[in-house]
Amino acid sequence: MKQRVSVLGTDLSLSVEERDIPSPGPGEVLVQVKSVGVCGSDIHYFEHGRIADFVVETPLVLGHEASGVVAAVGEGVDDLDVGTTVAMEPGVPCGSCHECKLGRYNLCPEVAFFATPPIDGAFCEYVVLPRGFVHPVPSHVSFDAAALVEPLSVGVWACQKSNVSLGTRVLITGCGPIGAVCALVAQARGAQVVAVTDVNAERRARVEELGFATLDPTAGELPEADVLLECSGAAPAIDQGIRALAPAGTAVLIGMAPTDTVQIPVGAIQGKELWLTGTFRYANTYPTAIDLIASGKVDLDAIVSASYGLDEVEQALTHGRSHPADMKVMVRPQSR
Ligand SMILES: NC(=O)c1ccc[n+]([C@@H]2O[C@H](COP(=O)([O-])OP(=O)(O)OC[C@H]3O[C@@H](n4cnc5c(N)ncnc54)[C@H](O)[C@@H]3O)[C@@H](O)[C@H]2O)c1
Ligand SMILES: [Zn+2]
Ligand SMILES: [Zn+2]
Repeated sequence: MKQRVSVLGTDLSLSVEERDIPSPGPGEVLVQVKSVGVCGSDIHYFEHGRIADFVVETPLVLGHEASGVVAAVGEGVDDLDVGTTVAMEPGVPCGSCHECKLGRYNLCPEVAFFATPPIDGAFCEYVVLPRGFVHPVPSHVSFDAAALVEPLSVGVWACQKSNVSLGTRVLITGCGPIGAVCALVAQARGAQVVAVTDVNAERRARVEELGFATLDPTAGELPEADVLLECSGAAPAIDQGIRALAPAGTAVLIGMAPTDTVQIPVGAIQGKELWLTGTFRYANTYPTAIDLIASGKVDLDAIVSASYGLDEVEQALTHGRSHPADMKVMVRPQSR
């Protein structure tokens, strides 16, 4: 049996190829892919052919924010019915290294992550994953929202690491999809989102539509907060955000800075005994993130702006050039 797959060539051109549908081995699940979010990293591979040391040296399938329905299960999988809606966790760790044994499997050096060379992603009709990385989602949740459990997990992890809870004053820098999901998760955990900042007024307007107060960071000082969730990667936001923290506050660097080294305000960190950490993806967040959506506490359909079929992956990856304020674009591999 064949399937259609969108492939990024080493010359960075996109084409749709026919490939065999994989069969699920023991403990594995075959998923028919229904919806896949376009992430900044997909766009970066398409435009530049690399992210840091990960280089597109062989043809690559992009897409890592994916949902679908169970199409078949391998030997030994007896707790998942064919037809169940699922969210796919795109990073499969080795399971036996020191980090994996301690449960922080996002830090596994051997992790195989969708759409990270040479591992293929989900801009295709079918993928296989181990059962533990295929998470059932209640059927009333849309396939788009189920796909966006992936970026939502980034927000869940950041809020867990910084103990965002009832009454915590949270400042978020960056009104992109990651800033938006961080705001939604912080609000769902009972926190007070004091502001979400962005230098781009149209992006701020999108986050205001979600019900959050926004600020132009160039217009003055930022409000005091207990937790900073830095979601821009911009050096001025890192500096300004850390300075806005109250004594004993926590800064979480989620955004990836374009350069490996940026300046941080050491005086503020020492004088106020601030905590500073970063996050790398997430671990064990999918059930929590799925609950947030299924219970209606977080509405991810509200951040979806457009969708494309498998023949239109190039349009999906370049949509942002003509619609720079749009947050999330989806690829739906079953539609042409
Ligand atoms: N740590 C992780 O595991 C993880 C996971 C996913 C994404 N990321 C990173 O998170 C960041 C955000 O992702 P995204 O998809 O939302 O990106 P995005 O580019 O869509 O959004 C970033 C936003 O930051 C804004 N910005 C620029 N300068 C600013 C400033 N000085 N103050 C406030 N805002 C400013 C931009 O205008 C933009 O709207 C990226 O760096 C991405 O690589 C990290
Ligand atoms: Zn992503
Ligand atoms: Zn490992």
